[in-house]
Amino acid sequence: MSAAWIPALGLGVCLLLLPGPAGSEGAAPIAITCFTRGLDIRKEKADVLCPGGCPLEEFSVYGNIVYASVSSICGAAVHRGVISNSGGPVRVYSLPGRENYSSVDANGIQSQMLSRWSASFTVTSKSSTQEATGQAVSTAHPPTGKRLKKTPEKKTGNKDCKADIAFLIDGSFNIGQRRFNLQKNFVGKVALMLGIGTEGPHVGLVQASEHPKIEFYLKNFTSAKDVLFAIKEVGFRGGNSNTGKALKHTAQKFFTVDAGVRKGIPKVVVVFIDGWPSDDIEEAGIVAREFGVNVFIVSVAKPIPEELGMVQDVTFVDKAVCRNNGFFSYHMPNWFGTTKYVKPLVQKLCTHEQMMCSKTCYNSVNIAFLIDGSSSVGDSNFRLMLEFVSNIAKTFEISDIGAKIAAVQFTYDQRTEFSFTDYSTKENVLAVIRNIRYMSGGTATGDAISFTVRNVFGPIRESPNKNFLVIVTDGQSYDDVQGPAAAAHDAGITIFSVGVAWAPLDDLKDMASKPKESHAFFTREFTGLEPIVSDVIRGICRDFLESQQ
Ligand SMILES: *[C@@H]1O[C@H](CO)[C@@H](O)[C@H](O)[C@H]1NC(C)=O
Ligand SMILES: *[C@@H]1O[C@H](CO)[C@@H](O)[C@H](O)[C@H]1NC(C)=O
Repeated sequence: MSAAWIPALGLGVCLLLLPGPAGSEGAAPIAITCFTRGLDIRKEKADVLCPGGCPLEEFSVYGNIVYASVSSICGAAVHRGVISNSGGPVRVYSLPGRENYSSVDANGIQSQMLSRWSASFTVTSKSSTQEATGQAVSTAHPPTGKRLKKTPEKKTGNKDCKADIAFLIDGSFNIGQRRFNLQKNFVGKVALMLGIGTEGPHVGLVQASEHPKIEFYLKNFTSAKDVLFAIKEVGFRGGNSNTGKALKHTAQKFFTVDAGVRKGIPKVVVVFIDGWPSDDIEEAGIVAREFGVNVFIVSVAKPIPEELGMVQDVTFVDKAVCRNNGFFSYHMPNWFGTTKYVKPLVQKLCTHEQMMCSKTCYNSVNIAFLIDGSSSVGDSNFRLMLEFVSNIAKTFEISDIGAKIAAVQFTYDQRTEFSFTDYSTKENVLAVIRNIRYMSGGTATGDAISFTVRNVFGPIRESPNKNFLVIVTDGQSYDDVQGPAAAAHDAGITIFSVGVAWAPLDDLKDMASKPKESHAFFTREFTGLEPIVSDVIRGICRDFLESQQ
């Protein structure tokens, strides 16, 4: 929860109004929403500010006086009579869990019964009489000067199943209320078995219906218990299934960094379809793929022969999935006795290597550049070489979990300008390329290849990325290039050779990976390097894709 800090008044005034023993130490109350729950506030005691006009009938409140931590804080505060429905400050104390939470009708809210919950809270009115202005001031900080102690978050969850998963459930009239509940049950079982936690999978839920609705995001809950509870709360919406529309919406609006997508972790959407989709799902599948989202289709109850006429496209499953290899589709005959389908589905969702749609040539490659710094190049042409390198590098998604770039300059000698792990942002990589200083000297390309394989690729042997070496040279090497190049190929490094001016075609072909024609390039003039940029990028992406198949 990203609660903004809202000072009650100007900070100085606040300090004057609040005597120490009142307990708040002058800290501003946290502005919360109608639906912020006790468990969202991870403090023994907190002062919060409830907004006015919350819809009373939508409050989830469990218990009386002592409320289960899944209850809405503002709901509990209204229920308890601490505030009216026009909002205001509330003090929240966390309490241990209980066996029993009772149901009581009070102040317009019917609280619900609940058994066994791991944490509770209670609410009181805030002792001071101050009025909230509602103006957010971002510069507010705890005025005592004491650092807020940060309790390190416990690491939970199944580490071997890191995935960001959206369950796109069917909320259409097709499925109906009864099977909708069975579907929720099934999704709950899958969620439970996944091992949700801070270090494990995160899940969210979207309901496909006439209009898609994101019920909760990845970041909302990081424990299975909370997720199960949230799933239980989801209400049936009805309408056409419009699964395509919902899938597109999920790719675009659900999988965002703001909504809790973690970098470098496979994005997965599990689409449940009871019967068939009422709209075009193929295009949505393409959009999802472009967003790097792995689409799984769980189809339940195939259309019967009489219904086939109503199905837009009977091959919808194959067209929507990321790759039509059988891995991304799953069929269940009906919603009854689905327990045995839980485990195989969970196993699929946890199989990282198969999540090909999250891996692209832009984020899963290591590219080293071997740059000829011999005397024949000359200073201004050396700049053109660096420009060539930087134009290729900037196409890739450079980060510590994405693409990595390294560069070595060589004459007779070699100099690692920067290695794969030195820089993890594009900005830094481009800056350091710009500042590479020209060495000037002879040309020993073979040695330089061996050097690079050993010193630059050696340390990242464990990297899951595919390895590329781009060699730019303007002349004949004084040493043998064939042996060192063959060793690099054997080490799984794909070589692109780019020759300028005096570089002999034979050398270029000897160094390049197969097929030679698409891995060796030549231009008479240094200005001819520019159009080769896109050839090399396309080559890297093509080789990457082929390696994934
Ligand atoms: C829970 O509450 C019910 C009804 O108030 C009561 O009969 C029962 O004994 C309680 N159970 C526990 C474990 O406190
Ligand atoms: C999920 O988080 C968002 C943003 O923090 C919030 O607006 C929304 O109310 C939360 N939803 C639930 C169900 O907690």
